[in-house]
Amino acid sequence: MSVWAVLAAAGSGDRLGADRPKAFARLGDRPLLAESMERLDASGWIDAIVVAAPPGWEEPAILLAEELGCGKVSACVAGGATRGESVRLALAEIPADAAVVLVHDAARPVLDDAVVERVVTALTDGWDGAVPALPVADTVKRVDGERVIETLRRDELRAVQTPQAFLAQVLRDACQGDVSGASDCASLVEARGGRVKVVDGDPRLLKVTDAADLDRVAALL
Ligand code: CTP
Ligand code: MG
Repeated sequence: MSVWAVLAAAGSGDRLGADRPKAFARLGDRPLLAESMERLDASGWIDAIVVAAPPGWEEPAILLAEELGCGKVSACVAGGATRGESVRLALAEIPADAAVVLVHDAARPVLDDAVVERVVTALTDGWDGAVPALPVADTVKRVDGERVIETLRRDELRAVQTPQAFLAQVLRDACQGDVSGASDCASLVEARGGRVKVVDGDPRLLKVTDAADLDRVAALL
């Protein structure tokens, strides 16, 4: 069974506001992308990696892989205008005989291999996909502008992270239609009636959105 990883790194990082795309912003003395690339490459669960790089940054992404000795990186493609489009473009580089595709955001650098193991090994018993998730600590309300519409039952809510794992063909099918509005891949699979399993997430899988997040993540390394 071959497991391919898509590393979604093509975003511009508008909220981070660095002078370069977020994947190449500095985390310590390396580009942010280095951390997740190296960890996926070191994982015994992953056979090969396709990076969706910011358009124009494919070459630096390939050079980074070479510099880090990440021999599983098989291609770096230019990403698209949205995360979903970047994933679709990366999927096109994955051979037809791949069994499982794991999709991870470069914005979540502190990837522990135990999470990779949890999502990949969950794909038995008819599950189409698996996502790592954490309970929600805050009370979550649905709003319309300034007005609260309703308060959601917190025990039914989860905050979902990446990496997310899918049967390869299920993910390919899910990426056929309009993917532009999707903030994760599982939502595309769910929308087609796919069965997605929730496994334990990891609080260290913080997502780097703004500059303060970079400091928080650096403290975890
Ligand atoms: N991503 C991508 N292609 C895009 C947009 C996002 O591959 N067109 C990736 C990002 O590189 C990131 C992940 O999807 O690893 C989650 O996106 P987000 O945190 O929103 O990153 P950015 O879109 O880069 O940040 P911002 O929204 O602040 O511009
Ligand atoms: Mg974004």
